[in-house]
Amino acid sequence: MTRTTRIAPSILSADFSRLGDEVRALEAAGADLIHFDVMDNHYVPNLTVGPMVCAAVRPHVSIPIDVHLMVAPVDRIIPEFANAGANLITFHPEASAHVDRTLQLIRDCGCKAGLAFNPATPLHLLDHVMDRLDMVLLMSVNPGFGGQGFIASAIAKLHGVRARIDAHAAAGGQPIWLEVDGGVKVDNIAEIGAAGADTFVAGSAIFGAPDPDGGYRNVFGKLRKAVGGS
Ligand code: DX5
Ligand code: ZN
Repeated sequence: MTRTTRIAPSILSADFSRLGDEVRALEAAGADLIHFDVMDNHYVPNLTVGPMVCAAVRPHVSIPIDVHLMVAPVDRIIPEFANAGANLITFHPEASAHVDRTLQLIRDCGCKAGLAFNPATPLHLLDHVMDRLDMVLLMSVNPGFGGQGFIASAIAKLHGVRARIDAHAAAGGQPIWLEVDGGVKVDNIAEIGAAGADTFVAGSAIFGAPDPDGGYRNVFGKLRKAVGGS
């Protein structure tokens, strides 16, 4: 089966001193989304960027900004990211006291809503919120750092999420994207796509392979060729 493929470069591995140039180069190379990793040194042991940086990046690209919140608590910061130009906002259920309410809040702010699953987070947390979701983000590393190795058990878990999403769609439900995040490379993206992912975050795979001119077209070409799809 051919499904739409989206590549979402994670700016976590970008040159932060020239972020505007970096995101423009990503869009020129064919990025479908900008994956924007937000870490708070509390929910995860690392600290990155907030809504002010999202707002600074926004005018440099026309593609959607996919904000991945690795922060606790989450609710207060969601409207700030919506105002900063985020298009999708994803959070971890462990970081919200009221998952259903947080999902509604994201949509009320005009964004698409995503729920993220750590490697050890069980999928039954999807049971009562499928109609509230626009995306499931499956972590294939433990969140906090770029450049980690893909955790193999994520493949079986991807099949499980894909089955749930397809059953939901078959019952008349809305489309839900399935994004995989962590350790995605040219040499494993085909297996990850075959397991059901349609949206692929890649940080170190992209920023570790710049073209001679500083762009990223070659690695995008390799990722797309490897995964197939359209
Ligand atoms: C990890 C982040 C990922 C990470 C991906 O907590 O959510 O988005 O930056 O980086 P790579 O592709 O290098 O694993
Ligand atoms: Zn991420």
